[in-house]
Amino acid sequence: MLVCSCNYITDKEIKAVINEMLDEDCWQLIVPGKVYHAMGKRGRCCGCFPNVVDLIIRTTQEYHAVRQTEETKVINFMERLKQFHEEQKAALAARRQAMIEARRAAG
Ligand code: FES
Repeated sequence: MLVCSCNYITDKEIKAVINEMLDEDCWQLIVPGKVYHAMGKRGRCCGCFPNVVDLIIRTTQEYHAVRQTEETKVINFMERLKQFHEEQKAALAARRQAMIEARRAAG
């Protein structure tokens, strides 16, 4: 399946690079830019990056599951990502509320 239409990169190519990176260091932080750099490519519109992040998460989880990495050492990336988004949403809502209250107090 084509993931990046700017660079014509498929999910299989991306997964292969991620697995190579994990073979080098299975605990390294992998981000889309690092994957594309390893392929000699770079993000152009970067519209594919959310899908690449999903591929990184799934491939990393599969990598550790196949190698039977101790359950306690495997981080549930999706749960942590969801938690991060919830924290960001709450912080944004708090900032907006503070701005509204400051405007009411000023005028
Ligand atoms: S779709 Fe991948 S950089 Fe544009």
